[in-house]
Amino acid sequence: MSRTVYLNGAYVPEEEAMVSVFDRGFLFADGIYEVTAVLDGKICEFEGHVKRLERSLGVLDMPMPVDKDELLEIHRELVKRNNLDQGAIYLQVTRGAADRDFVYPKNVKQTLVLFTQAKTLTDDKAGIKVIAAPDIRWGRRDVKTVQLLAPSMCKMMAKAAGKDDAWMVEDGFVTEGSSNNAYIVTKEGKIVTRNLSNSILHGITRSSVLRIAAEMDMEIEERAFTIAEAQDAAEAFITAATTFVCPVLEIDGATIGDGKPGPVATRLNTVYIEEARKGAI
Ligand code: PDD
Repeated sequence: MSRTVYLNGAYVPEEEAMVSVFDRGFLFADGIYEVTAVLDGKICEFEGHVKRLERSLGVLDMPMPVDKDELLEIHRELVKRNNLDQGAIYLQVTRGAADRDFVYPKNVKQTLVLFTQAKTLTDDKAGIKVIAAPDIRWGRRDVKTVQLLAPSMCKMMAKAAGKDDAWMVEDGFVTEGSSNNAYIVTKEGKIVTRNLSNSILHGITRSSVLRIAAEMDMEIEERAFTIAEAQDAAEAFITAATTFVCPVLEIDGATIGDGKPGPVATRLNTVYIEEARKGAI
């Protein structure tokens, strides 16, 4: 069955949703996206995603295409029209279609697209295996742009190696996963994750998971770590709106801990789901 997607003010069957060949998203990757989880047909962490969207658009000198209330309404309408209980809503906004020019065009109508993807998010996480890959992305990874070729290439390297994902490495230190933030738990029980900067995306799930961990009196250190340190850790895990807290069982061939999902990642996933459910609107 075909999904209903949102395109520039209209709800249309996916086969009928068309954008211009001159869209700057296509020509320049001149666009921003967001991915928001849906649990029980409700929108999770909406405030956080809208704030990051506004910030990302601001860096590219783009306004919000519609206001926050309308955006929420569109998310809800898509959930309803697609009977979505659990999964994600993808929002893509580009500067719009204009004659090809590196200069930002003026007075162009932005392109706004939202679509749903059904996915089970609340299952027990079996864990994933990752490889290390060079981080070849641009220097503003704090901006959630649609230029996803580098992480896509990393993911393909992982798949070619028979693994699930890649942890990207720059100057000897892990930045993040191809589409998630990366963490380790030291043998002393401390959670270590890369500090916020332009080098990584400021994950909405990351922010909530660190708050939950702090409330559970866990020690947190926000700093860079190496693949070698991660391989020697008690646990490793990732977070994202589409994975929540997912254990990492193997890094570049080295088994982490006993090779099974660890207690910290498992507990954080359970509590995160409870909290995300409570806060969903
Ligand atoms: N990715 N880092 C990168 C590079 C990401 O692409 C993502 C999200 C995250 C986690 O952010 P959040 O917790 O706000 O989802 C970190 C989304 C899910 C995607 O591209 O599908």
